[in-house]
Amino acid sequence: MKIAVIGSNMVDLTSYITRMPILGETLEAPDFTIGCGGKGANQAVAAAVCGIDVLMVTKVGSDIFADNTITNFKKYGIDTTYVQKVPGMSSGVAPIFVDESGQNSILIIKGANNKLLPADIDAAEEDLKKCKMIILQLEIPLETVYHAISFGKKNRIPVLLNPAPATKSLDINKVCECDFFVPNETELAILTGMPTETREDVEHAAASLIARGLKNVIVTLGGRGALWMTEKEKKYVEAYRVNAVDTSGAGDAFIGCFASTYVQDSDVLAAMQKASAFAALSVTRKGTQMSYPSSEELADFLKKNQPPQIL
Ligand code: RIB
Repeated sequence: MKIAVIGSNMVDLTSYITRMPILGETLEAPDFTIGCGGKGANQAVAAAVCGIDVLMVTKVGSDIFADNTITNFKKYGIDTTYVQKVPGMSSGVAPIFVDESGQNSILIIKGANNKLLPADIDAAEEDLKKCKMIILQLEIPLETVYHAISFGKKNRIPVLLNPAPATKSLDINKVCECDFFVPNETELAILTGMPTETREDVEHAAASLIARGLKNVIVTLGGRGALWMTEKEKKYVEAYRVNAVDTSGAGDAFIGCFASTYVQDSDVLAAMQKASAFAALSVTRKGTQMSYPSSEELADFLKKNQPPQIL
């Protein structure tokens, strides 16, 4: 069984900081890592680790990062037939700042990701038609995201859209055909213009998206768990309690694991529980993809810990 990720890849340059420097200041940071990232690539890697074949549709630049990104996909057994190099462009790059509480701030320079166009989906059509799900994010042009959703609808392939990074330019009417819409609470606030501080706030904001025609809204809430809402359902999956050192890439970990699990057994809540474990393990280590547990580590964690409560 195979799923497709049509999306971004980046090189993550992560600085671990005590505080952000002010304008004109030079400040020493205690630590730094460099690793493969990008929301699309992270989700592809998470899905692959969780046991599904993955077809990656993305673009890298023609710089020193390109081959490393392709080699990294191959290391996880990801199909790179549609990973293309764009001559004369840089690969996507993401300077990330992680503070002492493990929270992150991320800048993205999209580079070659901006060149992933609707025609690239058409070029991959025959292979995409064999996939059981398509996963999308917003680090590629919006027209490509809309085209992928129409493609999924036309070919009866479920589509999961992670509307990240959130942008008010996203036309909700054009994404209503997606089967799963998975923002975090910050993205939900930006997309709806509504507060998302409390559980009630999150529920109202998620309900406003359901009212606009989205079918399944899953809001990832970090240490507060995740909410699944449909017209009929409203369920929370609690989070595992872990010591977070770096939360970057945790949302992607959740999404990749969720998609991989859901396509195999069609059980949304069970997939959310497993995704919650995978994401929890990822925040206990530094980095994005490099923080993801192996399938053995995940299995061991699931054996030793009770599944999170469903409320
Ligand atoms: O979601 C985390 C990811 O966002 C990072 O890997 C970074 O590359 C940005 O795309």
